[in-house]
Amino acid sequence: MRNKITAGNWKMNLTPQEGVTLINDVLHLNPALNNNKIIFCVPFTHLALAQQAIANTNNKNIVLGAQNCYYQNSGAYTGEISLPMLKTLGVQAIIVGHSERRQYFNEDNELLKHKIDAILAADLTPIFCCGEPLAVREANTQNDFVAQQLKESILHLEGQALSKIIIAYEPIWAIGTGKTATTAQAQEMHAHIRSLLNNNYGTIAQDIAILYGGSCNPTNAAELFSQPDVDGGLIGGASLKADQFTAIANAMN
Ligand code: PGA
Repeated sequence: MRNKITAGNWKMNLTPQEGVTLINDVLHLNPALNNNKIIFCVPFTHLALAQQAIANTNNKNIVLGAQNCYYQNSGAYTGEISLPMLKTLGVQAIIVGHSERRQYFNEDNELLKHKIDAILAADLTPIFCCGEPLAVREANTQNDFVAQQLKESILHLEGQALSKIIIAYEPIWAIGTGKTATTAQAQEMHAHIRSLLNNNYGTIAQDIAILYGGSCNPTNAAELFSQPDVDGGLIGGASLKADQFTAIANAMN
């Protein structure tokens, strides 16, 4: 039985102190987690303070995440952040291949493959993002598009390594636009992703969390999360509001 996950992607928002306030506000609202999980994916500059705020809860189902990393452990890579650095700060999960990184920073499937390998080698959890742009959806070729993203970045893994991954399906046309995929569209793609995993890895596919991302909010979360292959959400805009993020986390139950 897969547990559900609500991951907040703050993107490039908030000061570190505002971030601590947001985490404390969420904790104060006391989301009902049971065995489900919350991951706060905060900017690099916020990690140390965010970790302190999270550690105060003593709840192992509330964890710290980052939004990016580089795949080399150290060296002459000005401006980059390595996995040993993130690990020291208590990071457990890292978003990889968000569409904004693909679009604005030219990250391609090959680079993401290196990042995935490095994150798994560091014994951390990648949150691998995939999803199609609007033109692909309009041409109804989204299944092939997402299959190619998976093929070039994660399907080279051994089953044991793959089982550590979280996948986030985020249709680009739904990110930050207020336009959510319908529950049917989300479920259809999540089932497609799971069947690809099943074809390559067999029953391991049943253990992999596949999150939905793209204008997820307190109104649509419960219906999305009730779909058989939707195991929670990767939340952008609504993760910046304590009440909304908590309501979405509660929708996991
Ligand atoms: P959104 O962003 O919830 O603001 O649409 C989701 C994401 O980009 O991860």
